[in-house]
Amino acid sequence: MIFKVAMIVGSLRNNSYSGQVADSLAHMFSSRVEVHRIPIGELVLYNPDLDEEISATPESWQSFRESMRACDAVMFVTPEYNRALPAALKNALDVGSRPYGESIWNNKPGCCISLSPGMIGGFSAQHQLRQSLVTLNVRVMQQPEAYLSQVHKLLDDNGAVSQADTREFLQGVVADFEQWISILSDK
Ligand SMILES: Cc1cc2nc3c(=O)[nH]c(=O)nc-3n(C[C@H](O)[C@H](O)[C@H](O)COP(=O)(O)O)c2cc1C
Repeated sequence: MIFKVAMIVGSLRNNSYSGQVADSLAHMFSSRVEVHRIPIGELVLYNPDLDEEISATPESWQSFRESMRACDAVMFVTPEYNRALPAALKNALDVGSRPYGESIWNNKPGCCISLSPGMIGGFSAQHQLRQSLVTLNVRVMQQPEAYLSQVHKLLDDNGAVSQADTREFLQGVVADFEQWISILSDK
């Protein structure tokens, strides 16, 4: 059984640390998992009026929802903006949560990883994210928690996580997440 994991990156920046870490993480999954990076940068800002009629629903929302529906689980890798989660990521949560009763988040196994070049590793952003994921009924893996501080020191010139202990730690997170997906999917 192959699991499809959606990888959602909270930064829209080219060569972002979050994107680099997400790429490293994608290579840490076993052959049982396909990782699909799901872009969120082109999503129109959520406005419920546009969900009133299917003809008004932005194409970007429809393709995001379809891509997410095709995935069995979701991994978030995000920086922190002003002690909160980036607006683009919050918008993606909102777009995926509607129309009411058709949320693409419901029951999906989830994993959250936050990071920062600073010392606090995006803690506030991750906990804001986790707060929304409660109401969205994403089945978030609680442990291990992953806050990567001074992330720029963990990456090599190619953007790979090169620091040995961080690599080992993230490999453990990925292995536990795969197990978490298996348990929840009963497969
Ligand atoms: C608008 C803005 C707000 C930021 N606020 C925080 C913050 O609250 N905490 C923090 O640790 N870093 C903050 N930063 C710094 C980011 O952590 C840093 O730019 C990081 O590289 C962003 O992640 P990325 O490389 O994945 O884009 C902020 C950056 C921006 C652009």
